[in-house]
Amino acid sequence: MSPAGAVVEEVAGAWLRDLLGLPASTSVGFVSGCHMANFTGLAAARHEMLRRAGWDVEADGLQGAPPLRVLVGEEVHVSVLGALRYLGIGTKQVRRVDVDAQGRMLPEALAAALASGSGPAIVCAQAGNVNTGAFDPFDTIVDLAHVHEAWVHVDGAFGLWAAASPALRHHVAGVERADSWATDAHKWLNVPYDSGLVFVAHPAAHRAAMSFSAAYLMRSGDEPREAMDWTPESSRRARGFAVYAALRSLGRSGVADMIERCCRLAKRFADRLSAEPSIRILNDVVLNQVLVRVEPQADGARGLSGADVDADAATRDALKRVQDERVCWLGGTRWHGLDAMRISVSNWSTTEEDVDRSADSILRAVRSVPG
Ligand SMILES: Cc1ncc(COP(=O)(O)O)c(C=O)c1O
Repeated sequence: MSPAGAVVEEVAGAWLRDLLGLPASTSVGFVSGCHMANFTGLAAARHEMLRRAGWDVEADGLQGAPPLRVLVGEEVHVSVLGALRYLGIGTKQVRRVDVDAQGRMLPEALAAALASGSGPAIVCAQAGNVNTGAFDPFDTIVDLAHVHEAWVHVDGAFGLWAAASPALRHHVAGVERADSWATDAHKWLNVPYDSGLVFVAHPAAHRAAMSFSAAYLMRSGDEPREAMDWTPESSRRARGFAVYAALRSLGRSGVADMIERCCRLAKRFADRLSAEPSIRILNDVVLNQVLVRVEPQADGARGLSGADVDADAATRDALKRVQDERVCWLGGTRWHGLDAMRISVSNWSTTEEDVDRSADSILRAVRSVPG
């Protein structure tokens, strides 16, 4: 709560905007994680979209308000739906827009969804699908949404960090024209947990959605920054320090190097594993995510055709073996109806040797699955 905490948020916030290529006028809040960053960005969106429709949601609530249209990709992260729920927008009220095989929102489907209704609208786009790492086509999405005067919120828990790398930033082209962004420092920046970040291109909306006043708080005007104006909490840890320290020690090139290294390591994983005949990599490895599926080969000697073998069960079995061996840890997922192991490379200390040892462990597991 001290002024030092607020100042360090201002300094780290300016560095983050610069690093992530966001407009300099964007406001920033240091929240507990990306779930709350989504909540905060969407609360600002709700405020602003309803304000433009002549409704003061903070004073008058949501009951009786003009209906808000919320559009999300079919592969939306569950925390966006959670955040919307807290804001009074139920999961069934959200319009899901079709995506492609990598989970990217299809612009033509978004265009049709936007054109099929009217009134205040919020579009939730995604930088870094939690399974494939894929990015929505921001340039087109923002153009389409803004034609309909809709707000664009971007969930970029880990994927927004691609913007910090000259080699990867093409993935997020156009993202800087969105209206709010949510990301995490406790994922790819590798600071301790309790470190989400929200940015809003409309600071007045951000502040209106989060701030409050009471006589004992003795507030007067906008300056100096009060950390509590930009997050859902009043009392909290001075989160800016961990982010400040990470950025100060890594510098611009250190952050880019860390992000690019993780992506190279993800490709290394994919190359090692895809050489195995019974492994299929389900995603295009564009970032740090690799989806590994076990598809046991036909075994003519035992009278088994490929179709006889349950690839979902084989994948789950291999995953359990990897987890039991404890060389590395990875989780499982379902991707477009298929079971997969989900590799996510995001730790600063992971080396090529770690990846090779982990890939060997996965290969051992896959080879010992009964076919
Ligand atoms: C794409 C995406 N969005 C949001 C979140 C939620 O972030 P947090 O767990 O920091 O609240 C995650 C976490 O896994 C995520 O991967």
